[in-house]
Amino acid sequence: MTFSPLAPFARLAILSTAFVVLCYSALAASPPWLTANDDKIKAIVEKMTLAEKVGQMTQPDSGSVKDLDDITTLALGSMLSGGSSDPESGNKLSDWADFYTERQKRALKSRLGIPLIYGVDAVHGHNNLLGAVVFPHNIGLGCTRNPQLVEEIARITAREVRASGIQWTFAPSVAVPRDIRWGRAYEGFSEDPAVVALLGPAVVRGLQGTDLSGKESVAACAKHFIGDGGTEFKPGGGEGMLDQGDVRVDEATLRAIHLGAYPDAIKAGVATIMPSYSSWNGVKCSGNKQLLTDILKNELGFEGFLISDYNAIDQLVSPETDESAPESNNAAGQVRSADYKKCIEISINAGMDMVMLTDRYKEFITMLQELVEEGKVPMARIDDAVTRILRVKFAMGMMEADPDLWPNKELQPEFGSEAHRKVARQAVAESVVLLKNDNALLPVRKLPRRVHVAGSGADDLGMQCGGWTIGWQGDRGDLTPGGTTILDALKAVAGNTTEVNFTADGSKCEGADLGIVVVGEGPYAEMKGDRYDLALSPEDTAAVAALKAAGLPVVVVVLSGRPMILGDVADQADAILAAWLPGTEGAGVVDVLTGAAPATGKLSFAWPRSMDQVPLGHQRETIENPLYPLGFGLGYE
Ligand code: GLC
Repeated sequence: MTFSPLAPFARLAILSTAFVVLCYSALAASPPWLTANDDKIKAIVEKMTLAEKVGQMTQPDSGSVKDLDDITTLALGSMLSGGSSDPESGNKLSDWADFYTERQKRALKSRLGIPLIYGVDAVHGHNNLLGAVVFPHNIGLGCTRNPQLVEEIARITAREVRASGIQWTFAPSVAVPRDIRWGRAYEGFSEDPAVVALLGPAVVRGLQGTDLSGKESVAACAKHFIGDGGTEFKPGGGEGMLDQGDVRVDEATLRAIHLGAYPDAIKAGVATIMPSYSSWNGVKCSGNKQLLTDILKNELGFEGFLISDYNAIDQLVSPETDESAPESNNAAGQVRSADYKKCIEISINAGMDMVMLTDRYKEFITMLQELVEEGKVPMARIDDAVTRILRVKFAMGMMEADPDLWPNKELQPEFGSEAHRKVARQAVAESVVLLKNDNALLPVRKLPRRVHVAGSGADDLGMQCGGWTIGWQGDRGDLTPGGTTILDALKAVAGNTTEVNFTADGSKCEGADLGIVVVGEGPYAEMKGDRYDLALSPEDTAAVAALKAAGLPVVVVVLSGRPMILGDVADQADAILAAWLPGTEGAGVVDVLTGAAPATGKLSFAWPRSMDQVPLGHQRETIENPLYPLGFGLGYE
């Protein structure tokens, strides 16, 4: 069924969906264990000075805290490692465990000894660390429609995160991307809110477990509230043409499409929620009281705490890009506000509980205290924020002199283990979507005498992993130990009975019996991935043509963070597999190619024929007459 912008039944469908979501969401509320310690917390808050309260609400990036004594003297409540904020000693598990431990020890030396809650973006495994298992990004997991598998992946991720000591990950992204030109489309499970609502809460359950105080549980963070995936294309295009933009829809549509996973995530006990950089009808989410307090806290009954996005509050009042500012760990250049104090006032009064920031943390602490003393931010608001933060720390068992504050050494042997890689390999296989299979070319249960492999992605672990891997933007090539490229996996299957040759451009393929071309896009994250044209590269297109011209049957594998415009490749390929961003376990793709695993993936985004069909927007359920529709996926007879 397709909606035209003004079709009356479209409005009726959206309004009735919104009504159902509204009723349903009215049933949402954080579970009682999140507020079970409120009496103890009240007694602590009464003892706290204003400076200590504001310290709990401050989360600097560790890269900005040069003097570790600040952790103690400012009684910081939290720190994070942004996408590229790694320990100076190195990027192994032991480096991170020592790095975290040193900072936690400083926190315990503060007057009240309240521990830090330390956060990272472990969004597809403990992806900052060398040797961690890197799982498929959400767009691929969306194609599995398998909440049990997604929960198991989150559980493994939690165990690898706690092995390093860290207790909080800024995941899951429960965006509902409606424009695949967006550089964060791959962080969304699907264009379909129902798929996001199915899988988002499964990540929360996996990360937090049945008991958030467990030694292998981490606090989750549903993000980015709300409508991060529905922004309008900004004229002029280029970097940031979509990311952090403006969602221009009425409330019924915002709820019907973008509320998705939040009610169930809250019911599952999600400990934290991150408001979005983006705006709703011109108002920044990070300063929107209706969204943060009226809807999230009052209507949906969220009892955890809201963590701002990275320097996001700087954007609330006359933001200016200040290239002289220290390069933040996530965004090149730094948006600075001409009136930072006003930004703080707006955001905290809107309902923000903790602020993620970089080098301005002392300014933030000073200014927020001034705002309270000037009566511009009520002490009751501060007390509410601190209460919410301490609720999570109590629920995590951090407040009772818990030895679990430290890296969990029992979990360290399984970090990056074969057992974890086995689950990741299964997830890769279940995420692969068979889009075309002329003459039942696949599965190739027995590789022929000679196979020729080509394409930019065939032997590139970085392309398999995508952004948020080791560094914020990811990287090409062999960026982490323990992974398997698609070429590696093919050679392992070939053994000494099949000759496997590789040339990226497809040259010297004559005489081979089968061609496999792995095409796609290089890694990116956030605004760096906003792209106006999603066509395959000329090099990849030429490689497919070269194998076709040599008369080979050609299998095309697509490694991408979104559907790409295939052009002539759609006709030239005899078989096409969408493998998304599978992560370190490329063997999962080969398992489907050889039939070692079935082809079961179903598209979580419609696959457009051309850029004319992009964006999907809000007035249609999905793209009309796409190359491959939402939910499509062939199987093996
Ligand atoms: C980034 C992202 C957010 C991430 C945060 C910390 O800018 O928007 O998803 O969790 O900063 O790295």
